[in-house]
Amino acid sequence: MENIIILGIESSCDDTSAAVLRDTSLLSSVIASQAVHEKYGGVIPELASRAHQQNIVPVVDTALKEAGITIDKVDAIAFTRGPGLLGSLMVGTSFAKGLSIANNIPLVEVNHLHGHILSHFVDLPDGELPHPSYPFLCLLVSGGHTQIVKVDSPQTMSIIGTTIDDAAGEALDKCAKVMGLPYPGGPIIDRLAKEGDSSAFNFAKPRVEGLNYSFSGLKTSFLYTLRDCVAEDADFIEKNKCDLCASLLDTVVDILVSKLIKAAKQYGIRDIALGGGVSANSALRARIQAEGDKRHWRVFLPELKFTTDNAAMIAVAGYYRYLSGELSSLDAAPIARYEEMI
Ligand code: KG4
Ligand code: ZN
Repeated sequence: MENIIILGIESSCDDTSAAVLRDTSLLSSVIASQAVHEKYGGVIPELASRAHQQNIVPVVDTALKEAGITIDKVDAIAFTRGPGLLGSLMVGTSFAKGLSIANNIPLVEVNHLHGHILSHFVDLPDGELPHPSYPFLCLLVSGGHTQIVKVDSPQTMSIIGTTIDDAAGEALDKCAKVMGLPYPGGPIIDRLAKEGDSSAFNFAKPRVEGLNYSFSGLKTSFLYTLRDCVAEDADFIEKNKCDLCASLLDTVVDILVSKLIKAAKQYGIRDIALGGGVSANSALRARIQAEGDKRHWRVFLPELKFTTDNAAMIAVAGYYRYLSGELSSLDAAPIARYEEMI
């Protein structure tokens, strides 16, 4: 135990979040979600950055107060540098820099995706959760990314499989939208699918080489099914909503899990973790757990509160960077795309 205090700040998409850790122990976590996007059926970048500007001061202030920590006790400020929406990232990055200059506190930049993966190492106040051992594989599924990542250490990770088009969450959100469901559609599909028959419809599954994913064909086949059926019966979607959701979700889970099994075999790795917003999905969690039981994996499912964007995961990733002396300079600008990120 080093007793290092890290303040984490996350603002990459539509949640403004701050968290305080003592080493890897969570002292506080505050998330302000932005309801403003719901009526548009997706995140509107300009509205997101404005909402971040309104939220960031009270969110950080509340996180420090709830942790019982004053700013002079903070050893480092960890902020999300990317990937994400540029305007949103800009708010968190600028705020972190201002706080750093004003209080003479070192800055640590964090890759948002490293945060999702390392969320498994945040310890809760009521006890330690089991941690994966290195190397482990993480299936990272969010609204913007779908990847299998081989994690060798908190800083050394390689993407061994990735989507060549849509992300899994994006596909679910888009299919939900054409069914007239509100944004984000993933959680609603999760709920409706429980009432439906997953064998009611057959949607296209991709044939992609190696460990890569594709979801655009599935999305198209879903759209065509709806178009043809609605042409015959205008109430088709309403009558079949649960079966449509169950069949769609089952296909997405099948696609995700089949490549994960392949990766685990190929690399001989049995510590398997799940991360990102879609890892809240109950069907995906149940399937990975069942595959894990069958294949003698140790399966690590994130706490539900760490599945969607949060600053605790940014703080823990920042903690490891801080320990290895990787501090950021004040000219670290936000980076919208992962590929450009070191
Ligand atoms: O990680 P995240 O909060 O933001 C990104 O970095 O993208 O992930 C958001 C995604 C959305 O596509 C949302 O529909 C999906 O996670 N999601 C879910 C569930 N909860 C959130 N998808 C399926 N089932 C859920 N329970
Ligand atoms: Zn995320």
